Amino acid sequence: MYFSLLLATVVLLGANIPVEGTYNNVPILESKRHISSTPKPEPIDVTELPLPPVTANDEEGGCTSDINSRGTGCIGISPNLQNGNFLPDGNHVTATLNFTGAPAAPDERSIYVGQQLIVVKVDGSTFPNGDAWKCLTCGVPAQNMVGSTILDAYPQAFHDGKRVLVGTNIVDCGLALLASADCTPDKIHIYPIRWNVQSNGTGPGGNIRELRVHPDNVHLGFNAFTLSGASMGEFSYFGRLVFNPSPTAGTPLTARYDLVNVTMLFNPNQTVIGADGDQLIFNPNALRVGEFRGFTGRGNEITYLGQPVESCNFDVFAADLTTGKVRRITSDPGYTDPIDVSPDDKWQVILTTLQSGRMLFLSAMRGVPPITDLITSASTGSVRNNGQRRFFQPWLLDHDGDRGSYIGQLINSAGDGSPGSINDPNWNAGADPRWSPDGTSIVYFQNLVKAPACGGQNPLPCPNSTAPGGRTSRLMLARLTSRQPLPAQPVTPVSDEVPWGIPYVPGSSPPSALPLLEGNYTLKGNVSGTAHASFTLDSTKSSISSVAVIYSNYSDDGINRLNGFENVTATPVNLTLIHLDWFSDLTSTGKSNSTKVSSPDGFHLEIDQLYNFFNANGTLETMVDGVIFKQPPNGA
Ligand SMILES: *[C@@H]1O[C@H](CO)[C@@H](O)[C@H](O)[C@H]1NC(C)=O
Ligand SMILES: *[C@@H]1O[C@H](CO)[C@@H](O)[C@H](O)[C@H]1NC(C)=O
Ligand SMILES: *[C@@H]1O[C@H](CO)[C@@H](O)[C@H](O)[C@H]1NC(C)=O
Ligand SMILES: *[C@@H]1O[C@H](CO)[C@@H](O)[C@H](O)[C@H]1NC(C)=O
Ligand SMILES: *[C@@H]1O[C@H](CO)[C@@H](O)[C@H](O)[C@H]1NC(C)=O
Ligand SMILES: *[C@@H]1O[C@H](CO)[C@@H](O)[C@H](O)[C@H]1NC(C)=O
Ligand SMILES: *[C@@H]1O[C@H](CO)[C@@H](O)[C@H](O)[C@H]1NC(C)=O
Ligand SMILES: *[C@@H]1O[C@H](CO)[C@@H](O)[C@H](O)[C@H]1NC(C)=O
Ligand SMILES: *[C@@H]1O[C@H](CO)[C@@H](O)[C@H](O)[C@H]1NC(C)=O
Ligand SMILES: *[C@@H]1O[C@H](CO)[C@@H](O)[C@H](O)[C@H]1NC(C)=O
Ligand SMILES: *[C@@H]1O[C@H](CO)[C@@H](O)[C@H](O)[C@H]1NC(C)=O
Ligand SMILES: *[C@@H]1O[C@H](CO)[C@@H](O)[C@H](O)[C@H]1NC(C)=O
Repeated sequence: MYFSLLLATVVLLGANIPVEGTYNNVPILESKRHISSTPKPEPIDVTELPLPPVTANDEEGGCTSDINSRGTGCIGISPNLQNGNFLPDGNHVTATLNFTGAPAAPDERSIYVGQQLIVVKVDGSTFPNGDAWKCLTCGVPAQNMVGSTILDAYPQAFHDGKRVLVGTNIVDCGLALLASADCTPDKIHIYPIRWNVQSNGTGPGGNIRELRVHPDNVHLGFNAFTLSGASMGEFSYFGRLVFNPSPTAGTPLTARYDLVNVTMLFNPNQTVIGADGDQLIFNPNALRVGEFRGFTGRGNEITYLGQPVESCNFDVFAADLTTGKVRRITSDPGYTDPIDVSPDDKWQVILTTLQSGRMLFLSAMRGVPPITDLITSASTGSVRNNGQRRFFQPWLLDHDGDRGSYIGQLINSAGDGSPGSINDPNWNAGADPRWSPDGTSIVYFQNLVKAPACGGQNPLPCPNSTAPGGRTSRLMLARLTSRQPLPAQPVTPVSDEVPWGIPYVPGSSPPSALPLLEGNYTLKGNVSGTAHASFTLDSTKSSISSVAVIYSNYSDDGINRLNGFENVTATPVNLTLIHLDWFSDLTSTGKSNSTKVSSPDGFHLEIDQLYNFFNANGTLETMVDGVIFKQPPNGA
């Protein structure tokens, strides 16, 4: 069932032979998409990049000279690794990881401790000391990093080769190139980034996350959670980074980068599901950022995980920063989210759960309007992971995205699937894969599944790591060996203004994200039929608590017709956990025949949006042309 499906699909796609028009025997129905010619699979050579040696002993002094004779530090078995992008020379990639086991000061090795920014050589060469990697931030004097925070998420080098954004900081080596011998820890400053959220400019900045530097290197996109109402929400923003050497207000009151001219990437006039009188309006082309993910290579568009436009199907989209024109990049029934677009905009690397089959019990019936999604998407989107086990693998897609039988090319398809191989399904990718500046390589990282996402009650046994020192993270380089290097093409700075967004006013409260629909509405299918939808608000009238839809011969494409009903009631348990009571009995007939059916007593789901442990009573099953897709077992 679920896990045998996982293995079966690895075999199918490992051979790079997608069956015409189907995925996992599920027809990829995209009738409205223009089928332009699609690229043939290309040669990809995947290798593992070197990392510091591993000590199993996290105690002080656990990194002995037997393990690292050069005295340049050790990492642990779970090193909290994340790859960043390449330095502009194309010969180094940035990464963050956690050093451990350093001896105490005054031993000069004492600086190799905690979460740090490193650069790694990608051509097999070494730094003058013989290491293939260099820790940039180990040993930075305390006075050079006042107000800075943990160096963990999304390292991104600037085009000057001297600065890297890491977490919510900018690491700056002054006049020295980061990879050069001139760049020593005493020259490095780590400046915090502050987003002012007070009308009088005082106090700490707002919490920002998922930072992505625009390719003009002047602007920044980011997300911020909202905690108003019963459940957590998120908005996305775009602003200009300005170095402020001596701020006069707000904390930290130290040299820092300020975010100015910030725009909320949200337009209340754009709704995927909205209403006009008693008519429900479904606009699949609406600009609805679910979570900002980055920018295209030339910087004219943002990329984002969109509010679903097919029920339970999570895709990435792009929207023009100036015009707001939306492009749907993926449509496959997997969950796709991290994305990096090539410097020339012609290609992208995405991370998707597609080949795990994990989302198909929810998403394999195609063309269902995303009506119940108004209250289910926070939970259904969370099914993508099992705790720390991501089901992501990297795929190469051309500019126009998946269409027809083209679902892109699995980047790490080489190998025999054995433990530690390039395509070992127990090694799963994390955000963000990154293109080299010349467009001929992609760097990504993977983590090996660990308890409790395997072992114990979980039907997946915990594998033993075959990586050096038994570490459970690895840094991978994929070379697209048939490609010619792209010429360097600087990106001219884009406007501060995003005409379709809302200028952010510090101190203002976030708008309500979704239309508060209440009562009965009719949605007319574009080709035939209707959906009758009934919405109920919660007792405080601040959110939709239940949605019930009845479909009658509903069709937007004339290829399949939808009949039956679906209703869901959402009860928030806390800010990040919603209890769903879900009843489905949907039938789609036409080019393919499918059903989506809950058990008679309903499907009841609780999944925490931050921890992603699947926990359900009852079942929800989707059947497409005789192939049945079941939910994962609880905790798996
Ligand atoms: C880094 O490793 C230490 C053990 O040496 C651990 O206590 C700490 O939580 C780790 N930090 C991160 C961010 O993983
Ligand atoms: C600034 O505004 C905040 C929030 O309204 C308030 O708590 C604080 O006292 C104000 N500070 C000054 C100096 O006006
Ligand atoms: C951008 O921000 C700066 C500094 O806060 C301000 O002086 C300027 O007026 C802003 N520009 C626009 C277009 O809002
Ligand atoms: C939304 O539409 C109204 C009416 O057309 C318009 O005044 C407003 O500026 C629009 N809002 C945004 C953010 O585009
Ligand atoms: C992992 O290694 C341990 C100790 O060598 C062994 O007992 C166990 O069977 C191994 N697990 C797997 C899945 O190979
Ligand atoms: C809304 O539709 C349901 C059936 O779907 C019906 O039971 C209910 O009476 C309707 N409510 C109103 C106010 O028309
Ligand atoms: C329905 O038709 C309208 C007008 O052609 C189009 O804009 C919209 O995208 C269509 N909706 C769907 C779901 O196909
Ligand atoms: C259902 O819709 C199809 C087009 O999608 C149409 O050909 C057919 O006549 C409709 N059936 C009924 C009973 O309305
Ligand atoms: C949903 O459908 C089930 C099964 O028909 C029914 O028992 C339940 O009352 C419905 N719930 C809502 C909120 O419509
Ligand atoms: C919500 O509840 C779950 C389950 O009890 C718990 O794991 C999680 O920490 C809670 N989250 C918050 C934000 O309270
Ligand atoms: C779907 O069902 C119809 C009959 O309702 C049948 O004619 C058709 O062949 C079926 N399609 C597939 C792909 O099984
Ligand atoms: C499943 O049922 C058990 C026993 O009634 C209950 O404790 C648990 O909360 C339920 N879980 C969900 C997700 O509904």
